[in-house]
Amino acid sequence: FSEFLTDTLHRQHDYLRISLTERCNLRCLYCMPEEGIQLSPNKDLLTSAEIYYLSALFVNQGVNKIRLTGGEPTVRKDIIPLMQRIGSLRSNGLKELALTTNGISLHRKLDAMVEAGLTGVNISLDTLDPFQFQLLTRRQGFDAVMKSINRVQEMNKVGAGIKLKINAVVMRGLNDHQILPFVEKTREEDVEVRFIEYMPFGGNKWSEKKMLPYAEMLDMIREKYPDVARLQDARNDTSKTWQVPGFTGRIGFITSMTHNFCGTCNRLRITSDGNLKVCLHGDAEVSLRDLLREEHGGEPMDEEAFDAVRQIELDRRKAVSWAFDAEEGWVSQERRLLDVI
Ligand code: GTP
Ligand code: 5AD
Ligand code: SF4
Repeated sequence: FSEFLTDTLHRQHDYLRISLTERCNLRCLYCMPEEGIQLSPNKDLLTSAEIYYLSALFVNQGVNKIRLTGGEPTVRKDIIPLMQRIGSLRSNGLKELALTTNGISLHRKLDAMVEAGLTGVNISLDTLDPFQFQLLTRRQGFDAVMKSINRVQEMNKVGAGIKLKINAVVMRGLNDHQILPFVEKTREEDVEVRFIEYMPFGGNKWSEKKMLPYAEMLDMIREKYPDVARLQDARNDTSKTWQVPGFTGRIGFITSMTHNFCGTCNRLRITSDGNLKVCLHGDAEVSLRDLLREEHGGEPMDEEAFDAVRQIELDRRKAVSWAFDAEEGWVSQERRLLDVI
């Protein structure tokens, strides 16, 4: 494994998340305002060729998992050819090619994606109630999302082997009554439903009251399924996995608010406009795009770019652990300690 993707905490950054766009065809309450968000001009976004170039570069340095995200990645018209190209990096050591999507148009693209090498899909779905879906996402589309989930499961029945997860952000008083129906869904279905603690993010109207902590979710589940049991997680997993004995599927919890997992986080991120970030909350960013583009004298991705990555890794060592502070927002715990000293 290449040294420059390993930090002093011995975390090997072998997982790369690439955002293909900031655009989205839904308007989930916890994510985007009704009018959408300010979009970067198209010329600032990475082209398909640039995304492929960077993917190859990172895979050659030891990245073995790439997840395509957004916004909503499927709104990008070139997603299929792009996946085909990234999928071809299997011969260079890429083991997993995954997608995080809202599932609205996935059912139409799934066959081509699987052919291109898709190995896993995380579908965002916060409720099993079609009326509530419209309320939470401010759009129609529940049937389309269910169709996508069903399509993945059908393909798996004939051996496609696509890892399927459903991501549900839980908000107190809104969709917490959906926790038990989601758990019930794992009785017969081979799916992992992950309950996500609601996070303050991108100017959403987060309040602590609306956040349902992991411990409370678990209590609700235990009341109906008392023997629900913890499973072993892989070292760098962000979620804590559980299962009701005898059920086919699993449930998981993403506990960003109450038990952060920063210490084992191994993700690198590339934003849709080409910035490299190690953390959702961090602001240290380096423009890989500028290093790539000729007008910046960048041309081939070279030592200069590798140095940029190294610099970002140095920053990461300082930001071991992030926590939310009502006044300051997301703060790195180590930086806070240093401030006090
Ligand atoms: P897997 O590869 O299946 O483990 O996916 P994932 O959980 O890394 O990614 P996904 O896109 O499905 O995101 C699920 C949730 O994890 C979202 O709510 C994200 O906000 C949260 N998440 C992903 N990466 C980070 C991170 O670095 N820090 C924090 N705090 N949350 C993250
Ligand atoms: N808190 C928690 N999770 C969120 N997501 C989007 N916004 C938030 C938030 N404020 C989730 C989406 C999607 C994943 C990529 O991030 O539901 O599944
Ligand atoms: Fe945000 Fe995803 Fe909802 Fe789109 S589907 S509004 S990107 S959470």
